[in-house]
Amino acid sequence: MNTPDNEPHHSTNGSSTLSRRDFLKATAAVSAAGLMANLGTNYAHAQGADRLRVGLIGCGGRGTGAAGDCAHAHPSVQIVAMGDMFKDRLDSSRASLKALGDQFKVTDDHCFVGFDAYQKVIDSGVDLVLLATPPAFRPMHLQAAIAAGKHVFAEKPVAVDATGVRSFIATSELAAQKNLAIVAGTIYRRYASFVEVVNRVHAGAIGNIVSAHCYFNVGGLWMHPRQPGWSDMEWQLRDWYYFTWLSGDHIVEQFVHNLDTMNWVMQAHPVSAYGMGGRQVRTDPAFGHIYDHFTIEYEYPNGARLTAMCRQQDGTDSRVTNTVFGTQGVANTQSLGNTGSTIKGEHPYRFDGEAPNPYVQEHIDLINSIRNGKPLNEGHQVAESTLTAIMGRESAYTGKTVSWDQAINSKLDLMPKKLEFGPLPTPPVAIPGKTPLV
Ligand SMILES: NC(=O)c1ccc[n+]([C@@H]2O[C@H](COP(=O)([O-])OP(=O)(O)OC[C@H]3O[C@@H](n4cnc5c(N)ncnc54)[C@H](O)[C@@H]3O)[C@@H](O)[C@H]2O)c1
Repeated sequence: MNTPDNEPHHSTNGSSTLSRRDFLKATAAVSAAGLMANLGTNYAHAQGADRLRVGLIGCGGRGTGAAGDCAHAHPSVQIVAMGDMFKDRLDSSRASLKALGDQFKVTDDHCFVGFDAYQKVIDSGVDLVLLATPPAFRPMHLQAAIAAGKHVFAEKPVAVDATGVRSFIATSELAAQKNLAIVAGTIYRRYASFVEVVNRVHAGAIGNIVSAHCYFNVGGLWMHPRQPGWSDMEWQLRDWYYFTWLSGDHIVEQFVHNLDTMNWVMQAHPVSAYGMGGRQVRTDPAFGHIYDHFTIEYEYPNGARLTAMCRQQDGTDSRVTNTVFGTQGVANTQSLGNTGSTIKGEHPYRFDGEAPNPYVQEHIDLINSIRNGKPLNEGHQVAESTLTAIMGRESAYTGKTVSWDQAINSKLDLMPKKLEFGPLPTPPVAIPGKTPLV
């Protein structure tokens, strides 16, 4: 099944890939009876005006997976338009999505490439867009989609700097006014085991929370070596993970899942971050300028401290967990799978329920909310989790303690002034004590 990002047993391109087998598994995971119970009988014979016309923006591993997951969420879904920066990426995604059969109707004149592909998808007569490019573009794409009155599924993270986070929040507020849905790809919130354990923690199963720790320590992942003829911009876009302006660094791109879980558990965002990190293994310029490890201490409003650690270094021991310590027990959610979450202490518990495919579930929730006229809006929540990761990164990059107020008001804007193919120097690696807090 799909797993968040680049967990150790994941595909080499670092994202969920789509295959006929995945489709079948996803469909099996959500039983037909359960699906219909979830969706109501209105959708049993979706056709014509009932169709939910979906456009995909960012046709890589996750975008292709999300299009399949959305189609499997309900037969009314029809993928009708696709946009990507590069034709080769779009073509391979389109070839795999043909496995969707009747739910895939993307004609040549509904395939768009380049920097403005997103706008063309949005303007192509769709109801819902799936935003799955590198996160740098998410605020811009969300703004265009909501301005045009489209519902949105937005992969996490949703920005790479405070400027993007503020934009995303402002657009989310506009979406609420316009009664448009924004569902975020913070997938742990749809792991049945996580939901159950977090609900119990909120109900007092471990007493008052005093501290927590979370880890996403794994090996390295994909990279795309520069090819002759690629401009700086093309290389960075294709090798996007290794450039902070595109990915936010791995603490933002990947670790946002765990930080989002912690904000969910704490029912708050942190008030400050104090951390460190560096680049010990991925030192070759082929790996851009991002770090390969971070450790951040976050403080929450109730005084609880979270120790948060993420590492991407080959040959090291993996650890991917979230643990919360309370006055009456300890709660643990296992990130590597939708099961195995426990509570130990005065109210012990072990999750052993049904575990539907969370990647399909997020689209079921999205479609249900649209159809029920009560569109989900997870924009603010995912923007806060994204900023939580960004404030940790900025603390490590600069060596400073970063408060939430500093983080949300930061003037940092990493987007290049010109979005065009051509020269774009690689920024220097951040040096704590020298790199300024902006
Ligand atoms: N929720 C999860 O579990 C999960 C898993 C994997 C990835 N993701 C997220 O999904 C997003 C995409 O990741 P991926 O692994 O699919 O990467 P990817 O490199 O496979 O795909 C990204 C695609 O976006 C295209 N693109 C880049 N800039 C674009 C632009 N401005 N307009 C249109 N297309 C553009 C690229 O050419 C590429 O095809 C990231 O934000 C990532 O963090 C989430």
